Order: sequence, then structure tokens, then C-alpha cells
Amino acid sequence: MKDWTHATLDDIIDFAIRIEEESFAFYSEAALAQQGKALPEIVKLLKILALEERNHKDILLKKKEGWRLADVPRAEVGASVQRIVDLPVVHADAELGEVLLAAAAREKGTAALYRSLMALSDFGDLQEVFVDLVAQEEGHERRLMSFHKSLYPAPQE
Ligand SMILES: [Fe+2]
Ligand SMILES: [Fe+2]
Repeated sequence: MKDWTHATLDDIIDFAIRIEEESFAFYSEAALAQQGKALPEIVKLLKILALEERNHKDILLKKKEGWRLADVPRAEVGASVQRIVDLPVVHADAELGEVLLAAAAREKGTAALYRSLMALSDFGDLQEVFVDLVAQEEGHERRLMSFHKSLYPAPQE
């Protein structure tokens, strides 16, 4: 098993690209699985999220060359990666509540990863990219959780 706390920046960017790919696939499959079952707004959200994750992957790929020399392992970034790796696996055709929670947890982890990358001062203009990615992933988490909250209200004590 990979020790992410000693990963290079290249490894981490490759990991982030893979995360975006996997999230695109997950949301696409979940949208298909929920078609005709869940509320149309939820299916629409899943489709939008799929497209946005694909866009994130393109952004990272486009910026990838600029990172080639900045080979800086940082424990905090590695720890963020590890937290995502350790998330429980939920399949896209699982029950909707489970899908929403699993996706929100992954969004939270991804936002934390980008926040730790953003904090690396030697990134220059790339900081802007990460500021934007953090905001978008946090927005994804909020939208997923607000659907979860309206569909499964917490029981009153
Ligand atoms: Fe993303
Ligand atoms: Fe996201």
C-alpha cells in the first residue's frame, strides 16, 4: 500500500486527476441508476456534478506541465490524500441516501486536498486554480447534503 505522506507532488496531482475521473464516472452511473426513481432535480444535480468533475480533470491536466519541476512532498497534502483513500466504497447504484452521503464525504475530502495544495506558497498562479476548485467542491458537498437533509430529515429528539 502506498505511503501518501511521502508522495511527490506529481503523484498527488496524478491522484487528483484520478479522483476527478472516478467522481465523473460515479456521478454518471448514479444519475443513470436514479433515472425514473429519484426526483428529477436530483438526477439533474448528479448529471451536472458529473460534467463539473470532468471539467476539473481537464483543468488539472492542462496545468499539469507547470507542476513538473515542483516536486515537493508535504505531509499535510499526503494526509489529505490518505483520508480520501480511506473513505468507505459505496457503489453508484446503492440506495440514494447512501449515495448522497458517500458523495458528500468524498467532496469534503477533495475540497480538503485542494485546500492543502492551495496552501503551498510556491505554486504561484496555480493557487488561483485551487481556490476555485476548493469553492466548487465545497459547493458540491453543500448541494448533496441539502438534498439529503430534505429527503431524510433528522428525527426529532
Ligand atoms: Fe472535482
Ligand atoms: Fe466535486
